[in-house]
Amino acid sequence: MAQDESKIQPLTISPPQSVLEVDEHATSSNDSILLGSASITSSVTQWEWENGRRYHGYKAGSYPIPNDEKELERIDLKHHVMMLLCGAQLHLAPLKNPRRVLDIGTGTGIWAIQMADDYPDCTIIGTDLSPVQPSWVPDNVRFEIDDVEAKEWAWPDNSFDYIHSRFMTASIGSWQRLVRKAFQHCKPGGYFEMQELDPRFRSDDGTIEEDSHLAQWNKYICEAAVEYNRPLPNYDDFYAWFEKAGFVDIQQVHLKSPSNPWPKDKLLKEVGKFQLCAHLEGLEGVSMGLLCRGLHWKADEVQVFMAKIRPEVRNRAIHSYQTTTIIVGRKPETFQPRRMSGDAPSSYGQAPLTPSSSSTGPSETLVPSAEEAARVDNQQNLSYNSNDEYSQDVNDLTPVVAVQEQPKIPELDDPSHA
Ligand SMILES: C[S@@+](CC[C@H](N)C(=O)[O-])C[C@H]1O[C@@H](n2cnc3c(N)ncnc32)[C@H](O)[C@@H]1O
Repeated sequence: MAQDESKIQPLTISPPQSVLEVDEHATSSNDSILLGSASITSSVTQWEWENGRRYHGYKAGSYPIPNDEKELERIDLKHHVMMLLCGAQLHLAPLKNPRRVLDIGTGTGIWAIQMADDYPDCTIIGTDLSPVQPSWVPDNVRFEIDDVEAKEWAWPDNSFDYIHSRFMTASIGSWQRLVRKAFQHCKPGGYFEMQELDPRFRSDDGTIEEDSHLAQWNKYICEAAVEYNRPLPNYDDFYAWFEKAGFVDIQQVHLKSPSNPWPKDKLLKEVGKFQLCAHLEGLEGVSMGLLCRGLHWKADEVQVFMAKIRPEVRNRAIHSYQTTTIIVGRKPETFQPRRMSGDAPSSYGQAPLTPSSSSTGPSETLVPSAEEAARVDNQQNLSYNSNDEYSQDVNDLTPVVAVQEQPKIPELDDPSHA
């Protein structure tokens, strides 16, 4: 039917300028979008498929967990769990007017997008191996393909008010190095926060029996992670690593997330409902790559194992939970990069650093910027010892005592609901 033209509402936006203005900031030499990050080329979106699951293409094989829809749903569920556990706070670091924030291993970008909404004057940069983030996002968030394990990060030293790392277990080969890199790239006065899940199922009352499938899963996942060169960290070491890197005012807390709604506590029961969904939907994805690639299981062996584990995850008489360690440290405002006598200053005034001889830059399918090449040339000092750790030490700073809260022990629910 023809529309009555007099009733058509005029568009309420002005037409775009015919010649668009250039954002000068986007081309400044310190702008990370050009530095070392991959432009979206076919290698980045050329997924790897294995046992019916999709994996990242850029630096293929380095992360053993899929990036398909099922996994992305798990990531978003876990985000919701953290929001519940943290009283809807996106961070525990006491941020004041941050201007530049980095979210490493951003996943679906859900955290970065919410941060961008909460801090409209701040630029949030989310990086990942997989370009799986949405494109309709607030103006102040951007996503980049980048490898946090690369020896050189794509940004200048001392450039972030806050660096956030969450759920990176199975992503990181050297956690100590990650903490040191975060220190290097935080501004003086800036914060680094890690929220890391220990995936092992635990119970405080012995309801996870030694011969249970949950206990077996713990053992196999640890072994597979070691074989895959992504060993689970010793979560109790985080504090010492923060101190050693130079962070001060370090605080940490351990949070328990029950595997199903077994606790009496209302909030933890709610957490348990979401955790149960995440496990039922996502445990196979977490297990498939690790067990097949790390321990050479066959896909159907993993499926059978999952079928045995699911009833235990659901069982309310098994009071299982996982623990997340949240740790926050501040880089001292007074931090002065140490300069060895005779050293030329590095391009960003940072402590003497020596690049390793092997190339850390992007593969040939990527487009490194001229700025990045110049920066790598300038920083002829970034050195690694044989363990691939920095030899530079920045631990001549006064440590402070950690505030370590005891997690609330959930009360048991009425077992008749089990
Ligand atoms: C379990 S997800 C966590 C996502 C997000 N941090 C969150 O908490 O919602 C881990 C993410 O880290 C990314 N990742 C793994 N290894 C990485 C690396 N070397 N560099 C950058 N990202 C990496 C994975 O692609 C995945 O998206």
